[in-house]
Amino acid sequence: MLKLVKMSIAGLLAVGISTSVLAAEDPIHDAIEYRKGAFSGIAWNFKRMAGMVKGEIPFNAEEFAKRAGYVATLAQLPLEGFKDLPDSAMDKSKTKTAAKPEIWKDWADFEKDMKALEDGSAKLAEVAKKGDLDAIKPVFAEVGKTCKGCHDEFKEKHEH
Ligand code: HEC
Repeated sequence: MLKLVKMSIAGLLAVGISTSVLAAEDPIHDAIEYRKGAFSGIAWNFKRMAGMVKGEIPFNAEEFAKRAGYVATLAQLPLEGFKDLPDSAMDKSKTKTAAKPEIWKDWADFEKDMKALEDGSAKLAEVAKKGDLDAIKPVFAEVGKTCKGCHDEFKEKHEH
């Protein structure tokens, strides 16, 4: 009997948890978390690749190629987290974001910068498969420039 009660409580909890996880009560919050999550995943892998490029971490071709592949995939995600949001997404009192309003004013530019990251990281994943660090270095630097270029223009130094 006790066992049954325990099981049904566990069952209820499981259902409760899954519905609250899936509920999109605040789509703007979800979009911001989504794009930040994608960028965090990119940065995690990018930093470790940077360590290898700079010689701070021993170069491991297989690991580098794996991380470059992750970044190439993740680079396709953030744009969706900026797209088609209601105007209230710009209300800084409601959202915790470092995204500048210029993103939506200069949308074509922003999209171009995002595409540069996508294309650059795809190229990096391709060259990384060959495992030649000297060939990797200039392509890696190119991708790094796309991060900085976009952040300088479209990202606040701190969240607001
Ligand atoms: C096309 C523009 C663009 C490119 C390219 C770009 N970023 Fe960003 N990044 C942003 C914006 C905008 C934010 C702020 C997102 C927010 O707070 O809503 C951001 C946020 C971040 C964050 C903070 C995430 C968080 O949890 O708050 C990290 C880390 C980051 N970017 C790393 C990178 C790295 C590394 C690259 C290059 C490999 C890169 N970004 C390329 C625009 C860009």
